[in-house]
Amino acid sequence: MSESKFSIVKDCEIGEGTIIKDFTNIYKTKIGKNSKIHSFVYIEEGVEIGDNVIIRPHSVITEGIKIGNDVFIGQSVQTINDLYPKTTIRTKVLKTIIKDNAIIGTGSIIFPVTIGKNSFVAAGSVVTKDVEDFSVVAGNPAKKIGDTTDQAFMRKQNLRDEGKDPRKY
Ligand SMILES: CC(C)(COP(=O)(O)OP(=O)(O)OC[C@H]1O[C@@H](n2cnc3c(N)ncnc32)[C@H](O)[C@@H]1OP(=O)(O)O)[C@@H](O)C(=O)NCCC(=O)NCCS
Repeated sequence: MSESKFSIVKDCEIGEGTIIKDFTNIYKTKIGKNSKIHSFVYIEEGVEIGDNVIIRPHSVITEGIKIGNDVFIGQSVQTINDLYPKTTIRTKVLKTIIKDNAIIGTGSIIFPVTIGKNSFVAAGSVVTKDVEDFSVVAGNPAKKIGDTTDQAFMRKQNLRDEGKDPRKY
């Protein structure tokens, strides 16, 4: 793990090559290799994060969420694990699973669902239902608008490739 200033990384297992930037709070979390957790990210206990994952600034990953390998989480993504919060009782933590290669766009809100592998959640989506593998969803509530296997979609993604390692930025 790289040096990070003003971060709290408590009782965590952090894999080789993983970068934790400044001002992050991470508790009882397992993170794989070569991932990058940007500044001001807050990760609660019992979270599992795979290899080569990027979590952009100001995102909150709530208790118990499982994130696979090669997942991209944009800025200010908010997760939810309690649908009926109350100050007097603690209700059961609900499960969210984000599978390998999923992309979660900036500002999305993720309810306790399964986000399928190689899927794409457009910026600003409110995801209240499971997202199928390889699908693109958008809106509030998020609905399917396409497939990540669509040639035009893949072309647009690849056109933007600068050939640089996103973990360096
Ligand atoms: C979803 C996304 C990849 C565009 O996908 P696309 O298949 O190329 O879609 P298009 O731009 O051709 O738009 C298709 C339709 O979806 C709509 N759409 C696109 N992005 C949307 C979004 N975030 N929310 C709601 N609708 C969206 C478009 O308005 C368009 O609607 P129309 O058919 O009624 O005109 C892109 O808009 C997006 O949200 N990217 C995520 C960016 C991000 O969060 N980056 C994080 C790091 S900075």
